[in-house]
Amino acid sequence: MEEILSVQNLTKYFVTKKGIFSSSEKIIKAVDGISFSLKKGEVFVLAGESGSGKTTTARLILRAIEPDSGTVFFDDVEIGKQSKNLDKLRMQCQIIHQDPYAAINPRMKISDIIMEPLEIHKIGTRQERKKMVIDALQEVRLEPAEEIYDKYPHMLSGGQRQRIVLARALVTKPKVIIADEPVSMLDVSVRAEVLELMRELQEKHGISYIYITHDLSTARYLGQRIAIMYLGKIVEVGPIDEVLLHPRHPYTQALIDAISEADPENLNRYKEIRINEPLDADVYQGCRFRSRCPYAIEKCKDEPPLDEVGKDRLAACFVKID
Ligand SMILES: Nc1ncnc2c1ncn2[C@@H]1O[C@H](COP(=O)(O)OP(=O)(O)OP(=O)(O)O)[C@@H](O)[C@H]1O
Ligand code: SF4
Ligand SMILES: [Mg+2]
Repeated sequence: MEEILSVQNLTKYFVTKKGIFSSSEKIIKAVDGISFSLKKGEVFVLAGESGSGKTTTARLILRAIEPDSGTVFFDDVEIGKQSKNLDKLRMQCQIIHQDPYAAINPRMKISDIIMEPLEIHKIGTRQERKKMVIDALQEVRLEPAEEIYDKYPHMLSGGQRQRIVLARALVTKPKVIIADEPVSMLDVSVRAEVLELMRELQEKHGISYIYITHDLSTARYLGQRIAIMYLGKIVEVGPIDEVLLHPRHPYTQALIDAISEADPENLNRYKEIRINEPLDADVYQGCRFRSRCPYAIEKCKDEPPLDEVGKDRLAACFVKID
């Protein structure tokens, strides 16, 4: 399968004050030399716990923030600061954020919200734009579209708002959608509908998704391949069923066991590999998972490379776990 997007050695460090009264600085290696590619028509999942660098990766791809180093290729073109390529990327690669309330301006009409990207990218005449907005509303099944068109966000529920966000992302006919925890703030009752809709649209239009989540069950529902991030690094990549059924990295294993905690058959195993809270001191030295890892050996004081561990599979660990 051909690639639509690829990321090579992407890196972003943040420097922050250790405390409000402290003058010493702390470096956060939010994204630290990660590489992956997204194939055409594929759903690639980026998973990992809070603070692992998922959102920062999305922002770096869209150049909402400048990377310290590394490259992003979109449709075989390197995206740098040149505005021509960046404009193309921003039109063809849309992002959906977690919070449908923060993502849309409450004072704008639904029609204007969805039309905005068409205006920014100067697509179509006024009449054509109107038609595109109606089509997008129908695509996300907000009907009757003509009625929704004139409404304001406060007249809609959380699930409907996230459909508006999806409609706005779709209206420019993007090749890639980066969905950053798109359903985590919605009521449980509407999550499945929104995910189903996303999957349907993906299949219908052959859009490629980067689906960012820490929820492995929805990841498995939507995704074909998965990358697991831990403290700015990708620690494991591979086809989603294989990674989730036979994890090769202790952190992936711990994530999976954390969700099967309720399963009595898994209780013992969960206890066995329960992970510790990370120690702040030297997390960036050697394997970043070391202070929480039940398998750690002396060698883990070095940084493990992301190596091939099977067909289409990579893992960054010195120990072979099964
Ligand atoms: N602008 C910033 N300035 C300083 N630190 C930042 C900034 N943005 C992110 N970080 C830090 O970088 C790390 C990665 O953050 P990021 O938001 O990418 O994580 P995430 O995986 O998306 O987490 P979550 O699941 O909570 O959304 C965190 O430690 C975060 O505090
Ligand atoms: S490299 Fe060592 S510390 Fe890191 S995950 Fe593997 S066994 Fe654990
Ligand atoms: Mg995030």
